[in-house]
Amino acid sequence: MALIVLAADKGAPGVTTAATALAAVWPRPVLLAECDPAGGDLAYRLPALDGGVLNPGKGLLTLGAVARRGLRPVQIHEHTQKIVGGLDVLVGLTHGEQATGLGWLWGPLGKTFATMPDADVLADCGRLGAHPQLADLIAEAGMLVLFTRASLDHVAHLRERITLTKAETTGVVVIADPRQYRASIDEVRRILGPGVDFVHGLAYDPKGAELLRGQWGGRLDRSLLIRTARELAGRLHGRLG
Ligand SMILES: Nc1ncnc2c1ncn2[C@@H]1O[C@H](COP(=O)(O)OP(=O)(O)O)[C@@H](O)[C@H]1O
Ligand SMILES: [Mg+2]
Repeated sequence: MALIVLAADKGAPGVTTAATALAAVWPRPVLLAECDPAGGDLAYRLPALDGGVLNPGKGLLTLGAVARRGLRPVQIHEHTQKIVGGLDVLVGLTHGEQATGLGWLWGPLGKTFATMPDADVLADCGRLGAHPQLADLIAEAGMLVLFTRASLDHVAHLRERITLTKAETTGVVVIADPRQYRASIDEVRRILGPGVDFVHGLAYDPKGAELLRGQWGGRLDRSLLIRTARELAGRLHGRLG
């Protein structure tokens, strides 16, 4: 099915939060894969399906250890874990140093993700600027989604990033205050111009972001974060064809 890479140019606009929210409401079977070379956060943020804690040592690192001998889609699920809500996640590296020896992995990993027969893959790649090797994974993606806050300095950097890094479809998601939601999206669209395939929005919603770290339930479901994530997921999915 499809590989969708989620990333930022700089800072911490909320890629991991957005990736989690999108995976929670994705309209098809989905795997949330933490591919941030700086290390993952999900093992420490999200409860396992049984309410316990995730194993931070099982995931991208264990997959990387066996993938040297070749990587097939069926192997991926030997390294995933189920979190609250039943969502499959591939937990990321426990610290950035582990990425040093894994530069070769991103290309094969991208190829494997893009050919998973039973699930779309949402890959949280963190910040692109610091890790040019991620280009090998992005090259396999059907869609690159870059997240940004609405401030001008963030958006200006993003424009340069888009000229350097492109996938088949490249779009931007602005994480914006709900009160200025439409205006922020329009402004970013104006600054980025025609170099980008779409600009959509996701609510800046600290309460929703906090709820997303706990037991998922009705309050989270009604949050602005999840409501806007559902709309965004529908739009992204619609573009995949
Ligand atoms: N949509 C959002 N609304 C409000 N706060 C958010 C949102 N997304 C992320 N945050 C907050 O911003 C911080 C960084 O989020 P995170 O998702 O880890 O960012 P990144 O993956 O880009 O580093 C966290 O404290 C998180 O709760
Ligand atoms: Mg992150």
